[in-house]
Amino acid sequence: MRIDTGHVFKLEDYRPSDYLVPRISLDFRLSPDATRVTTVLTVERRQGVTAAAPLVLDGDGLTLLDIAIEGHALAPAEYQATPERLTIPTPAAQRFELRLETEIAPSSNEALTGLYRSNNVYCTQCEAEGFRRITYFLDRPDILSVYTVRIEAAHSEAPLLLSNGNPVESGVLADGRHYAVWHDPFPKPSYLFALVAGALGKVAGSFTTMSGREVQLGIYVEPGKERLAGYAMDALKRSMKWDEEVFGREYDLDVFNIVAVSDFNMGAMENKGLNVFNDKYVLADEETATDADFANIEAIIAHEYFHNWTGNRITCRDWFQLCLKEGLTVYRDHEFSADQRSRAVKRIAEVRTLRAHQFPEDQGPLAHPVRPRRYREINNFYTATVYEKGSEVVRMIRTILGSEAFRAGMDLYFERHDGQAATIEEFLKVFEDVTGRDLAQFALWYHQAGTPNLTVSSSYNAAAKAFTLEIEQSVPPTPSESRKRLMHIPLAFGLVGAGGKPVAWAAVEGATVEDGVIHVRKRRHVVHFSGVSERPAVSLNRGFSAPITLSVQQKADDQFFLASHDSDSFSRWQAFNTLLTDALIAAFRQVLGDKEPAFAARLAELAGRIAGDETLEPAYRALALSLPGESDIARDIGKGIDPDAIFAAREALARTIAAANREVFSALYDSLADKGPFTPDAASAGRRALRNILLDYLSLLPEGAALAAAHFRGATNMTDRAAALTVLAHRHAGARQAEEALATFETRYRGDALVLDKWFQIQAGVPGARTVEKVRALTQHPAFSIANPNRVRALIGTFSSANQTGFHRADGQGYRFFAETVLEVEKRNPQVAARLATALRSWRSLEPIRQDKARQALLQIANADNLSADLRDIVERTLA
Ligand code: PHE
Ligand code: ZN
Repeated sequence: MRIDTGHVFKLEDYRPSDYLVPRISLDFRLSPDATRVTTVLTVERRQGVTAAAPLVLDGDGLTLLDIAIEGHALAPAEYQATPERLTIPTPAAQRFELRLETEIAPSSNEALTGLYRSNNVYCTQCEAEGFRRITYFLDRPDILSVYTVRIEAAHSEAPLLLSNGNPVESGVLADGRHYAVWHDPFPKPSYLFALVAGALGKVAGSFTTMSGREVQLGIYVEPGKERLAGYAMDALKRSMKWDEEVFGREYDLDVFNIVAVSDFNMGAMENKGLNVFNDKYVLADEETATDADFANIEAIIAHEYFHNWTGNRITCRDWFQLCLKEGLTVYRDHEFSADQRSRAVKRIAEVRTLRAHQFPEDQGPLAHPVRPRRYREINNFYTATVYEKGSEVVRMIRTILGSEAFRAGMDLYFERHDGQAATIEEFLKVFEDVTGRDLAQFALWYHQAGTPNLTVSSSYNAAAKAFTLEIEQSVPPTPSESRKRLMHIPLAFGLVGAGGKPVAWAAVEGATVEDGVIHVRKRRHVVHFSGVSERPAVSLNRGFSAPITLSVQQKADDQFFLASHDSDSFSRWQAFNTLLTDALIAAFRQVLGDKEPAFAARLAELAGRIAGDETLEPAYRALALSLPGESDIARDIGKGIDPDAIFAAREALARTIAAANREVFSALYDSLADKGPFTPDAASAGRRALRNILLDYLSLLPEGAALAAAHFRGATNMTDRAAALTVLAHRHAGARQAEEALATFETRYRGDALVLDKWFQIQAGVPGARTVEKVRALTQHPAFSIANPNRVRALIGTFSSANQTGFHRADGQGYRFFAETVLEVEKRNPQVAARLATALRSWRSLEPIRQDKARQALLQIANADNLSADLRDIVERTLA
């Protein structure tokens, strides 16, 4: 392998820029192949900086057409311009106006960063470093400028012209052209700049803020799709209201616009006053979107809106601080969804996601702290660690301080740092200042990578009425951090007695215990509870109070007891999930030893009892019944992974549960059939989720394919239709009913790319060795496009990240196809290719034969010519 480390950016190298740009005006003359950009910067040398300091602006693939200072063209000796850099060695004045002209070609921009065209709509994506593909600039988040933007285009091509801030002027020009001017009074970093121009349909709304100002809301979509934006509009209004009520945050411009585009690298982008969305997270109705889609739309609309304060009004000093806006904003959107839906169910779903995406990252070669200290390519740090673990860290701050002090700290944060580019240290300081507490040890959550583990054992002495917990913490080594410091872990817990009642204690020593939380700060705590009158079962990490793993020596009886009686709904779910996981791991070992896997009868019985327990929400029951995924099981096993054996174990448990509960499951399945008209609310979605997981079990019994086929035919919404199609395709691959349903679905949604993504996704997920050929064939399907990120993620992303037996085919064909495809995607879109390539990050946990084949595929990528910085960074770290 050729190791070309490239430039490494280091946190400790941060220093403020010598120059500031308090104002910028941009003038775009749009045309698909030659867009002229005229930029006028007000440049100011910072106080105390020597006059000899050169002005160095960032560029990326730019050609400079013209340059002038204070109206005078510069002589060639007065500047140097390369595609990557514009240097003015000695600007004459402390403050001056710099005028630049560049020309760019949006239609040939397939990387989808900078200014590009999607479906004939001009749009921009500037985070993290896309602005420098438009014009030369100090393209870093601590340079805050007031933007005025003029856009000019042919009216026929782009009747709509949008940018950040408020509209100030528009007019008609000669030759069928027109223009609009936008002004954003809030100083912002360049990554929040946006422009959209094209022919789009509009859904209008309005919102009256807490101080009585009326804000005009607009959601722009492909013409004809307006009726699919209603749910997003409603979610936006609810988000605006919620941020006022829960965080006291009011919106600050006269307009708030959202545009849905069909080619987008990520989910959505929080540009000031002009959010740009992947259309997948805007468009929905019951015919085309699943309940999960509705929930995602609600969460992402909220997330981007919440960025207006956490990200835009207060931004990041540098990209090392990315979690300052992302972790905090994810925390805020999680809380929003918990308030809009069911808090208990939301929490379980969050933890499942964290474990599925962040844990493997933290436990593999790509591990990095929530606030990294090094990067080669910042685009590769929009990770589950920065987002999801970053959110958990904020949640722990609230757990430790209590909700009132947390809110007081947030208020101080907004007051103290409004209009600034801030750091994690400044964020933590507000909480220290409002409480007088020292968060130095806690801050390690930001600085240290790896998932901490707590080993816990307990004992009870009836005669002495004493209950003891022994807790030991360890943080595993991660790349470039072999020695770890001890963390402050807030471990919420409960002592649970007969019937699920809390067991009281008289006194406790050995650790600080407050409000049901043990503060683990040392390597080892022996926590003595005295005056405990019955032997309790201990419920640990309630509500998932810390993002850790637990190794608990606990009797299966206690685990069964907690799965039925724990009053903390998360821990109750967890107890059952742990029982399932333990059973699956034991079964995996039996399969490897050529034995038939066997399961304790009471496990299947408990599944039946949970399914039928009317005191539990249907959505909760659905989550409890959905078995740990194959990759969850793999993660818990740790090494020597043979995905086929895991699949066999999981399949055997599912069949056992189905067979043992046939009557209960079918009666319940029938009783949950949809009655009234469709509504996307959480309670209705929960009933559908429960019915669909029951279908999944029942489909394993005789006549299962017929049942699923009937479910498919009878479906009146996408949730049920997609669930039935998944059951047919995954459980009955090759059966006539499965083939028919796939064909029906394809015909019905032929013209709808977003819905066909589900069809690609379902087929890419079919377990077994034959899927790789199917996926390869589907890349030739007329609806597939290697240039569109949603298509690539649906087909290639699902196959490589969510199909354990298909991708990890023992002969390495899955990996080979994957390597070829990643390189194909990379030619156009390095960011999407790099993300796709993370699918192999856990290759070292595979059994030796697969491990070797996976490594060959990674080397094949690493050795390719002209690898982008994005992909090179991922493969080299993965192989290191
Ligand atoms: N900042 C966006 C968000 O989380 C994500 C994003 C990053 C989008 C980079 C595009 C490019 O809300
Ligand atoms: Zn975000």
